[in-house]
Amino acid sequence: MDEPGYVINAPYYELIIPTAHWDSLAAALGKLLAGARTVVEIGAGTGYFTETMLRDLDAEIVAIEPARVMRAALVTRLARIPEAGTRVTVLAEDAAAAEVPGPVDAVVLLNLVMHFAPGERRALWRKWASALRPGGTLVVEAQYPQRAEPVEPAVLPGRTLGRRRYEARTRADVIGPDMVRWVNAYRTWEGDRLVAEEVAEFDCHVVSDERLAAELAEAGLTPVPDAPEGVHAWRL
Ligand SMILES: C[S@@+](CC[C@H](N)C(=O)[O-])C[C@H]1O[C@@H](n2cnc3c(N)ncnc32)[C@H](O)[C@@H]1O
Repeated sequence: MDEPGYVINAPYYELIIPTAHWDSLAAALGKLLAGARTVVEIGAGTGYFTETMLRDLDAEIVAIEPARVMRAALVTRLARIPEAGTRVTVLAEDAAAAEVPGPVDAVVLLNLVMHFAPGERRALWRKWASALRPGGTLVVEAQYPQRAEPVEPAVLPGRTLGRRRYEARTRADVIGPDMVRWVNAYRTWEGDRLVAEEVAEFDCHVVSDERLAAELAEAGLTPVPDAPEGVHAWRL
């Protein structure tokens, strides 16, 4: 799988992430999954959360990442972390095809659920709920937007590398009853000169908290009532 959007987005990914928000997600994961010994991370991307889980948990991690460009960043990151050598396995299959030795203590899906159509989500929840041990936890971040509505353009101020600064201008257009198209323009600046702009589009499925809860209940999971802000969690 090489989703064209990620081929464009990959070189900018770590430069434009909203670090404060992601660090709060990482802290939430650390809290929710304390004590977990085996974690499956679906759609690990460049490995930002793989690394924080390695740091915060005493767990073996299976990181599933089908997109070659993202997996290149993931394994490059992991190759520099000594503990990853014994604790992280990277699988190149997608969430439907990947098989993990189970049962596992936790399944984590961050910034990913929007890629699945309703029928695919039902299969996803069934498959990964059945990979959990009794009492195991499934974690998903709160989805945005919650319904198919336009999201006004906003600039994500990114980071600087040497003489160049990176940012993303992002917006979402409604393209269907439960779908939006995120249009992300990645801009490279040198001083006040725009030196490059590349645009990636992602057609995304919208799923509200209520719908997510209903789907996960159908898969046999029970919500964790005190999940930290920004994430939703369910237990088998
Ligand atoms: C927005 S990125 C999020 C990456 C990482 N979870 C994070 O929060 O930084 C979504 C990732 O999910 C991966 N992905 C998309 N469809 C997938 C699927 N069906 N199974 C597994 N991963 C998938 C993409 O390749 C991409 O790396």
